[in-house]
Amino acid sequence: MKRTHHCGELKRSHVTQHVTLVGWVAGRRDHGGIIFIDLRDRYGLTQIVFDSEQNAQLHKQADRLRNEYVIEVTGVVTERPEGSANPHIPTGEIEIRTDSLIVLNEAKPLPFAIEDEVNATEFLRLKYRYLDLRRPHMQELLRLRSQVSYLVREYLHKQNFIEVETPILTKSTPEGARDYLVPSRVNPGDFFALPQSPQLFKQILMIGGTDRYYQIARCFRDEDLRLDRQPEFTQIDLEMSFVDREDIMNLTETMVRMVFRETKQIILPDPFPRLTFEEAMGRYGTDKPDLRFDLPLQSLNDFAKTCDFKVFRSMVESGGMVKALIIPGGATFTRNRIDNLIETAKEFGAKGLAWVKISGDGSLDSSIAKFLNGSALREALPTSKPDDLLLFVADKAAIVHQVLGRLRLLLGEESQLIDRNQWKPLWVIDFPMFEYDEGEKRYVALHHPFTSPHAGDIGMLETTPLQAKTLAYDLVLNGFELGGGSIRIHSPNIQERIFDLLNISKEEAREKFGFLLDGLESGAPPHGGIALGLDRLMMLLGQTESIRDVIPFPKTQKAQCLMTAAPSEVSPNQLQELSIRSTAKKPEAHIKPESRLGQ
Ligand code: AMO
Ligand code: AMP
Repeated sequence: MKRTHHCGELKRSHVTQHVTLVGWVAGRRDHGGIIFIDLRDRYGLTQIVFDSEQNAQLHKQADRLRNEYVIEVTGVVTERPEGSANPHIPTGEIEIRTDSLIVLNEAKPLPFAIEDEVNATEFLRLKYRYLDLRRPHMQELLRLRSQVSYLVREYLHKQNFIEVETPILTKSTPEGARDYLVPSRVNPGDFFALPQSPQLFKQILMIGGTDRYYQIARCFRDEDLRLDRQPEFTQIDLEMSFVDREDIMNLTETMVRMVFRETKQIILPDPFPRLTFEEAMGRYGTDKPDLRFDLPLQSLNDFAKTCDFKVFRSMVESGGMVKALIIPGGATFTRNRIDNLIETAKEFGAKGLAWVKISGDGSLDSSIAKFLNGSALREALPTSKPDDLLLFVADKAAIVHQVLGRLRLLLGEESQLIDRNQWKPLWVIDFPMFEYDEGEKRYVALHHPFTSPHAGDIGMLETTPLQAKTLAYDLVLNGFELGGGSIRIHSPNIQERIFDLLNISKEEAREKFGFLLDGLESGAPPHGGIALGLDRLMMLLGQTESIRDVIPFPKTQKAQCLMTAAPSEVSPNQLQELSIRSTAKKPEAHIKPESRLGQ
């Protein structure tokens, strides 16, 4: 070891010790006869002093040090002079009076300074990720992620789980995104798919008698990226045999509570509250509600049926619905702000956004006031008060929920209703088995097609499939879907029936999932599981704005790695070996400008 201590370690109790430290030059202050260096490593900063009166030659050497040089210094731990201690850092009471300096490596002038205050654009941070990672904040996020993986592994091992690796080169799995494909050289024309999750393998492991499986598993999905999505991400993935959904939900929430407590001393509720899918959609317009503020959607169907505003009445009469948001104190919103909300609502898919201000005297102020009976409206919305703003959307349920759900979030954010120090986990349960896709005129699975319906709802598969509810559960935290899972189908007959309803033919089911169907016919135990998004968990624990901050080497919105410039062209020879010919028009310059980073 070159060093005797690290840079975050030395305190007053070490004074007089002779030590060796290594690290990067984080700053250099030249006070004439004295040069101060802040020496940085992963653990902290230590002040190094080169005093010309003590050692003129060393002082001269220190004069050529520049930021990010890598050095080794040896010297004596000394108490800082009266009044010059720095109470903000653990080593702030001491400094090192040097007797030797070795420059281990130099650094050219760098594209940005290594500071926690980020001034560099994200483009630069990703292109020069090795510099970005030197920032203490990034190091702390890496450490935190490692701690979480460690705690999860320890917890699951104590619960008798076995860690199993499942293949990366595999067959398409049906999580609903596009697959990343890998051509097979030795089987020309055939492709592997990278796993969207280990779903089928973990079910096979249960059939194989593994009983309790987990994996910190890499997953790949070629889908449009967002603030909380990456093409390559990590799941804490687990599966258990002979359990019901309570067992999995209990184990998962105990684990999540432990992780928050051990890493951040945050105490999450015990148990986590639960909402059914229907309750969550009805009250918050989304299946991942942010419960840090309330602002619920309120149904106005009864009022709408009898009111004179045709937009509302006809919508309810034709099977749609009307819901409202009550914005406390919103009567102060300017016309301009309301017009912007209307525009936003239209972008979210609404045909319009009706609004009413309740004046101080309780009367209604709105262009549609003449169609509305004020006292009937106030009765229909008992929590509304003078000075509130009411926003209404009339449409099919899906649009009303989508639009008001998103406006709720936007207004919660804008009106600062969200307390950043609150942690509001919940389970969303009892999802419908299917949605009806109007465009494609067919049923689609809300979770994946291996999710078991409630035992009592199996009959509905024949009669009213849209009413069948599943034993699926999503874990939601502060408006993010942190994880999801279900009890699986272990009966081959029910599995085939579900494929049938999903319009997956017997041949297609055989071709894609024959091994699972065979497995189910070979003595499959009842089983179920869950997968938590590790990156999303880290984003929440680390309180970062973007999922890219908690992934050491993330991709941009265009699914590119700016540091390695992947993906990139391959040689014609390589393609030929793979029996592939590209039809791509030649792309422009490979590294895209930063404006394309997006969210
Ligand atoms: P699901 O598709 O819901 O379920 O994924 C589970 C969790 O993984 C995280 N996640 C993502 N994180 C970052 N980027 C992405 N592109 C991304 N996609 C998903 C989310 C999500 O809740 N096999 C099932 C689990 C099961 O049934 O056991 C599955 O993959 O946090
Ligand atoms: P119109 O009669 O189309 O001029 O609309 C009158 C008011 O009702 C306007 O403020 C519209 O924004 C609003 N509006 C129109 N359609 C809807 C709808 N589907 N839901 C809520 N408000 C609507």
